[in-house]
Amino acid sequence: MTPSDSSVSPVLRSATRTITTEPARPIISARDLRKSYGKGQNRFEALKGVSFDIREGESVAIIGKSGSGKSTLMHVLALLDAPDTGDLELEGVDTRTLRGAKLNRTRNKTFGFVFQQFFLTGSNSVLENVVLPMKIAGIGRAERKRRGIAALEQLELADKARNKAVNLSGGQKQRAVIARALVNNPRIIFADEPTGNLDTNTGAVVEDILFTLNREHGITLIVVTHDEDLAARCDRRIHIRDGRIVDDSAEELAA
Ligand SMILES: Nc1ncnc2c1ncn2[C@@H]1O[C@H](COP(=O)(O)OP(=O)(O)OP(=O)(O)O)[C@@H](O)[C@H]1O
Ligand SMILES: [Mg+2]
Repeated sequence: MTPSDSSVSPVLRSATRTITTEPARPIISARDLRKSYGKGQNRFEALKGVSFDIREGESVAIIGKSGSGKSTLMHVLALLDAPDTGDLELEGVDTRTLRGAKLNRTRNKTFGFVFQQFFLTGSNSVLENVVLPMKIAGIGRAERKRRGIAALEQLELADKARNKAVNLSGGQKQRAVIARALVNNPRIIFADEPTGNLDTNTGAVVEDILFTLNREHGITLIVVTHDEDLAARCDRRIHIRDGRIVDDSAEELAA
């Protein structure tokens, strides 16, 4: 008997639906992603055919040696850089169809970034830094301020809202970056070495914040890290070597 069988009562039918654990559509689906840098003799293939699916709400660690292609992969997944070839779907949408303003909007609305290259603008206040994604999204000044302060309160930084970002400590800067990553209620947070420059205790605080967002708010977490403890806390570890996936803990489970 199938759930659509007309002899099944509507109640049972809906109950059957709840029991059926159909896997949710992946939030990210990558197929044979390739990316090279440079030309001719200097051409370097940083991604040599990378494929995987990421489910909404998953926490995924991308691990591997320096130069293995982790940041390259993050930039491609976060639509900051296009792959040379391969397919990348975001919630079932072919990302090739996203261009210009539509691409910017999608990125700004769906993703939060905790990347070293998008650090804070030191001469601006902490609050100005945090509200920037909302400014880009066209949200009004009062609402920006309200949500910016709320995000800073969440990260226990509200008392630093008016300080210049340059004067924050390393851990405070990292928390401010997370506050900024949160203000647009992202579905996915991309973090590249979020605890890299922090001492153990501050790193643990930042790590806890990321996992709280993941577990309690269902935000998908994709994090590049050399930190084994952080990687171990993630639902899944994808190991990259020389531009290829050599190990994916999700596949071990499925096997
Ligand atoms: N813009 C670029 N031009 C040329 N080569 C590049 C460029 N960006 C990255 N590469 C090369 O691509 C390879 C992968 O770089 P990537 O930054 O993805 O490594 P990674 O795994 O993030 O390393 P790390 O752990 O040191 O951050 C490296 O060999 C790097 O030198
Ligand atoms: Mg890197």
